[in-house]
Amino acid sequence: MKLSFEGVFFTYSTGVRALDGIDLSIGSGEFVAIVGENGAGKTTLVKLLNGLLRPDGGKVVVGNWDTAEYSTAQLAGRVGFLFQNPDEQLFERAVQREVAFGPRNLGFSERKIASKSMSALKTVGLADHAEDNPYDLAPFERKLLALAATLAMDTPVLVLDEPSIGQDAAGRRRIGRILRELHTMGSTILLISHDLDFCAEYAERAVVMANGHILADGLVEKIFAQNDLLQRAAVFPPQLVRLAQALKMPTAPLKVDQFVNAYSQWHRRKKRA
Ligand SMILES: Nc1ncnc2c1ncn2[C@@H]1O[C@H](COP(=O)(O)OP(=O)(O)OP(=O)(O)O)[C@@H](O)[C@H]1O
Ligand SMILES: [Mg+2]
Repeated sequence: MKLSFEGVFFTYSTGVRALDGIDLSIGSGEFVAIVGENGAGKTTLVKLLNGLLRPDGGKVVVGNWDTAEYSTAQLAGRVGFLFQNPDEQLFERAVQREVAFGPRNLGFSERKIASKSMSALKTVGLADHAEDNPYDLAPFERKLLALAATLAMDTPVLVLDEPSIGQDAAGRRRIGRILRELHTMGSTILLISHDLDFCAEYAERAVVMANGHILADGLVEKIFAQNDLLQRAAVFPPQLVRLAQALKMPTAPLKVDQFVNAYSQWHRRKKRA
């Protein structure tokens, strides 16, 4: 499902202009990373997609719906949202109820609610915690539970605000694999993250934000190799890019296997020269 922001402005009641004229189109099935410094406007931008915030100028379109004409409840059937802070999202007293809440609100049948909830819990590795109280889970598990609650709603668009934060290597890899699988199945994915290594590994396109503007937009390979640009957005290039630059390699591949291939070719050429 495609998304678009057309000349979008948003100002908080405090007078902070968080979005200052955003034009952005995302095609159906794209996997886009949104990166940028603290306060750049990333979270504000994606909250417009499900009506949690409404633009005070311009238009936000989800599929063929102008969001101005739809309620948050209706938009929730199209845009699943993993919040930056799971405490904003979790409020039930049992893990299973938490995951069932979204599908129930969307009017799924009891059978579908049960199957979507259980499969989402299995996907994130929390099936054994179905009866637990979410407040007894560790912070990283609460994030995974919030992700399961998002997945269970089976939406064509997924927005994930800092999904890898607080996760160890196994948790990061699990979340990455889940996103890759969803991408393969055709979901449209927006990933907000300060973790450019994570973005480089999984996303295809990167949108760089600063001060409520879009500074740059393009393929991750192109965007993440531009030091000046990333510095202006106060984000660190991925490790492999820094390594390639330190070695003075002509390219900076973003995946380990591609890096190894490019390195050995470049090294062989250099030795011959
Ligand atoms: N509820 C709010 N009330 C007032 N101002 C807000 C509110 N939420 C965010 N802001 C301000 O709006 C601007 C954009 O914030 P936003 O949370 O969208 O940035 P962000 O890119 O998600 O940052 P971070 O990386 O820290 O999550 C910032 O100046 C922020 O202080
Ligand atoms: Mg944010």
